[in-house]
Amino acid sequence: MPKRILITSALPYINGIKHLGNLVGSMLPADVYARFERARGNEVVFICATDEHGTPAELAALKEKQTVEDYCAEQHEVQARAGELFGLSYDYFGRSSNPSNHALTQHFANVLEEKGLIEERVDKQVYSVDDARFLPDRYVEGTCPNCGFEKARGDQCDNCGRLLDPVDLIDPYSAVSGSHNIEVRETRHLYLLQSKLQDRIENWVESQKTWPQLTRSIALKWLKEGLRDRSITRDLKWGIPVEKDGASRPGFEEKVFYVWFDAPIAYIASTKDWAEAHNEDWESWWRTDKGADDVSYVQFMGKDNVAFHTVSFPCTLIGSEESWKTVDTLKSLNWLTWYGGKFSTSEGRGIFMDQALELLPADYWRWYLMANAPESDDTSFTLESFAATVNKDLADVLGNFVNRITRFCKSKFGEEVPAGGEAGPVEEKLYLELDQRIAAYTEYLEQMEFRKACAELRAIWAAGNEYLQEAAPWAAFKEDPEKAAVGVRTGLNLIRLFGILSQPVVPFTSDKLLAIFCETVTDWPSGPASDSLTVLTPGQPFTPPQVLFSKIEDDQITEWKERFGAA
Ligand code: 2FM
Ligand code: ZN
Repeated sequence: MPKRILITSALPYINGIKHLGNLVGSMLPADVYARFERARGNEVVFICATDEHGTPAELAALKEKQTVEDYCAEQHEVQARAGELFGLSYDYFGRSSNPSNHALTQHFANVLEEKGLIEERVDKQVYSVDDARFLPDRYVEGTCPNCGFEKARGDQCDNCGRLLDPVDLIDPYSAVSGSHNIEVRETRHLYLLQSKLQDRIENWVESQKTWPQLTRSIALKWLKEGLRDRSITRDLKWGIPVEKDGASRPGFEEKVFYVWFDAPIAYIASTKDWAEAHNEDWESWWRTDKGADDVSYVQFMGKDNVAFHTVSFPCTLIGSEESWKTVDTLKSLNWLTWYGGKFSTSEGRGIFMDQALELLPADYWRWYLMANAPESDDTSFTLESFAATVNKDLADVLGNFVNRITRFCKSKFGEEVPAGGEAGPVEEKLYLELDQRIAAYTEYLEQMEFRKACAELRAIWAAGNEYLQEAAPWAAFKEDPEKAAVGVRTGLNLIRLFGILSQPVVPFTSDKLLAIFCETVTDWPSGPASDSLTVLTPGQPFTPPQVLFSKIEDDQITEWKERFGAA
């Protein structure tokens, strides 16, 4: 029976194309997992979207001198395209600003209010006299009361990660005008009474037996501090308007829902949009009373998002007392740093998704990022280690193998799988090693242990090389052409097997490997390696490929370091 697996990646903010750190922080690992589960024959729905509301979008549009609507529409397309070029195999890449999300966000707010979990409160808030407006979240900056960092944003300190309330900032100033002429004034907001949900969320977290340690400890830390009531509206124009009984809620005409209230709801709304576009039933993925009981729901995100996904969003879902599907497995990643520091758009540090593809094809990046995914710790991206990894793993190990065997076969046997001979001890040894390694690789992918999975995949490629070394068909050819035929036949079958196994991580390369044999299969091998390595039979034609990977040269590294701020 195929399993039903719902996969979401944290929704990238709309403000500009994402860098490699964002990519490996959620979208790419989610894609690898989605591809793997599809290959195993499971039914997967993989959802992502642009996270379009909130101050970052408004600020970015302002800077670009565009209306925020135009800005978001344009940037959505830019991100959708970049995702496609990177092979991110979303079933749907939606928008948090879509009508479906407006409706669903409104729905949750109404239901939560009916359950007595939403309350209007009068709040003190930072007001900029010179800008004549309240300054929510990122519109205000100042010194972090927790760590003393001087450029903390109103909603979160980028230095220590602490979530902040703008009124707590020391020496606040307006991020719009830079003005320090700041007052604290009273204004009305909707509060989600999370404190009333403490027990229910605690029970729910306790019942999650499969969460990884990092996830669990972050959730428990929040629960231990006690859940605080949280304001879910903001003084902004761009966002989901706050309504009551189908009209503007009195006193909230100039306000919208807080971006972190509506963004996770967009996971559901985007699934709904997907379902509408493909004539599918979204409720069977999200409503446990409508068939979502057997769905396994996996979320991917960077570590700064964990509190929102283990506490805040569950408050929305569980507080509604409706039958919503909640997350089963949550994979959170640490930071990828740029030479130990931050990627920065404004300061031109680091490589962004569009730039990466100007330099090299997607699979070079995909391989390096996944093989070095920041799983147990923050990981530093350097062009030196990127080049070393690509040159060794992709060019020397995988590329060279494919090149060698296809060229040798072509010159000695022609462009078809050679006949003759039988598998012997050298092949038996290979089968044994591959049986173990493929099982381990599969297990690691299932566990979402991506570094370990990639290490296994690399070892599988290397086992091919070692086999060729031992079987040495070039040496055998003169004396014992049958033996050489077995070696070459096995080698060609290895290429096909590599094509299948590599697909989740390097899908474009996988396509090329399979195209050598005019195949497109990606079904995960379920039988023993001896079966997988005898699929291609004598006489089957093939086409030797172009060189699969080119090596990265030292002068390229020097140039890129200069260009991307690593010098
Ligand atoms: O941190 C971020 O990039 C957010 N845009 C993630 C949102 S995830 C989801 F809840 F929408
Ligand atoms: Zn701080």
